[in-house]
Amino acid sequence: MTNASLPESPITPFKTVSLAQRGRAGMEFLGSLQSFVAGTVRQRARADFNADPEGAALAQNWAQRNEPWSERIAKAKAVAERSTTYRYDRLMQRYVAEEVYTKGIPATEARRAEAEAFYAIPIKPAGGSLELDPSIPIPKYHSETEWHLMPGGWDGYDLYGITMGSGVGPLVFVRGGFAAVEAGDDLRQQRIDVAKQFPKKSYGRIYEPGCGGFGTLAAVHKVFPEAELVGSDLSPHLLRQGHMGAERMGIKVDFKQRDARDTKEPSNSVDGVIMYALQHEMPIDVNIDTLKEALRILKPGGDLVMSDPPPFAAVHPLQAVVLDWDTEHRGEPFFTVTREVEWADVMKELGFVNVEAYTIGAQGYPYIVRGSKPA
Ligand SMILES: C[S@@+](CC[C@H](N)C(=O)[O-])C[C@H]1O[C@@H](n2cnc3c(N)ncnc32)[C@H](O)[C@@H]1O
Repeated sequence: MTNASLPESPITPFKTVSLAQRGRAGMEFLGSLQSFVAGTVRQRARADFNADPEGAALAQNWAQRNEPWSERIAKAKAVAERSTTYRYDRLMQRYVAEEVYTKGIPATEARRAEAEAFYAIPIKPAGGSLELDPSIPIPKYHSETEWHLMPGGWDGYDLYGITMGSGVGPLVFVRGGFAAVEAGDDLRQQRIDVAKQFPKKSYGRIYEPGCGGFGTLAAVHKVFPEAELVGSDLSPHLLRQGHMGAERMGIKVDFKQRDARDTKEPSNSVDGVIMYALQHEMPIDVNIDTLKEALRILKPGGDLVMSDPPPFAAVHPLQAVVLDWDTEHRGEPFFTVTREVEWADVMKELGFVNVEAYTIGAQGYPYIVRGSKPA
């Protein structure tokens, strides 16, 4: 196999192995089902919610109601569940979330030989690095959660890079329609749009804690090609994938295995920090410590851009129910608790300045919270 003989992938910015026809067809079916349900069916569920007098009353002053979020969500959920259309939407969401792995893992396994040949293709070095540190403690919340219903979690299968890069990514996620992502949303463009929220025109060194692979840093590189990039994560599998992806694309990135709370970077050493889809995968105390660490490593005047699903206060009550649902039903234990918090307020308390929170897309997503270290 040579790099030239590989198919283009619409989601990974480099070529990868393609699944066999049967595997692809199964994944394409799931992608179509999810986008149809999240687009067409959910529109009707929204109409049902708004037509319900209790739903309409809840939608008024939703953010200002003087009740704990758990009570507000419970009331909105009761209204939502009166709609058969909403229940159908949820049933299909759960079905797709499970099936992408039930179908995706055997489809990947069927291409093991091709995957191994793909990983063996020599890469012209781009100068980046991969530093794995088996001595760092992996918190239980990370190792014991089957994120998004992924069997074994992020590191649970040695070929998840292919399952995601050749199956779930390009055939299902690419069509949107899951969690906070609306049907038809373009995930790659969303990341670029988030990177554009850095307020300055250029940056020297940008750090991404919880980078997973190379998705967000690739977007940062597009917006700030001059910036030196550093990414860290707990997952060795994701870091290996990220390193391979960046090197294949000829982009120099330093990947390090680190806990976001303890980056081991010198104080005042980075110009920008980006956190994308990290917050909802960490408990509240870990999030707070991660923000403190970001403030420590930022240079005075440096900027933090954070993007995650919106807080409950920033969305319609039905959307809040949809986001809350992921906690119980899609392997996202911290989705609800992290949506209850106004992170802009937390950042101000921690000492960030010029803090702003706003949305740049439909149904409140992507949601941005950004701020700077005092100059
Ligand atoms: C949804 S993924 C997002 C990955 C990446 N930011 C992106 O844009 O694709 C969340 C990531 O957070 C990482 N993570 C969770 N807790 C972490 C921690 N305490 N320190 C570093 N990474 C963490 C996970 O391993 C996972 O890669």
